[in-house]
Order: sequence, then C-alpha cells, then structure tokens
Amino acid sequence: MALRVRVCRLADVVPGELRSFRVSGVTWPVLVTYVDDALVAVPGVCPHEDVGLETSEVDDGTITCPGHGYRFDLRTGRCGHDPALELRRYPVTLVGDEVFVDLL
Ligand code: FES
Repeated sequence: MALRVRVCRLADVVPGELRSFRVSGVTWPVLVTYVDDALVAVPGVCPHEDVGLETSEVDDGTITCPGHGYRFDLRTGRCGHDPALELRRYPVTLVGDEVFVDLL
C-alpha cells in the first residue's frame, strides 16, 4: 500500500519554479513544479551524495544539483552525467486543490 501524504495546495505550485515543501516525518522536503504542464514531484535530495536540491532552478525541465553540477531531467528522473543515477519521481494525485504524493 502506498504511503500517500499531502504536500501543498495546487495554488502553491508555480510553473518554472521549484517549490519546496516540508512533510512531517520526512527528512528531505518534497520539490514540486510543472514540467510541460504536468505536475512533477521529486525528493529534495540528490541521489548522488545526499546534497539538498531546494536551491536548484528549473531550466528546460531539468535541474542542476549544487553539489557536483549533475543535471536531472524532471520528466524522466534521468541524470545526464551518470546513467546509473536516477532522481525518483513521486506519483502525484490531486484531490480537489490539494497535491498528494506517494512516498512509497
Ligand atoms: S551531490 Fe548532487 S551531483 Fe553530487
């Protein structure tokens, strides 16, 4: 069974901006934005070496980790520098104007 948690309201998400939301009981925030008009939610931590991604900016659907500069495509989670790395994409569900993600 999925662990579904509320992250934010739809109005809190801004196209082209990576918004960071704290979720109770979770170490790293959940980052939410729109890519190609679709809601995308990812963990706020790099899968390379656990550096926070909250300060990353969205550029053409990708973000760059401030740690070592690896880029991640938010559409797929793929890393442009290391194919073995993937930024997890949380399944997103809208309930009214509330945004939920499945952490597990
Ligand atoms: S910690 Fe993110 S690229 Fe190294």
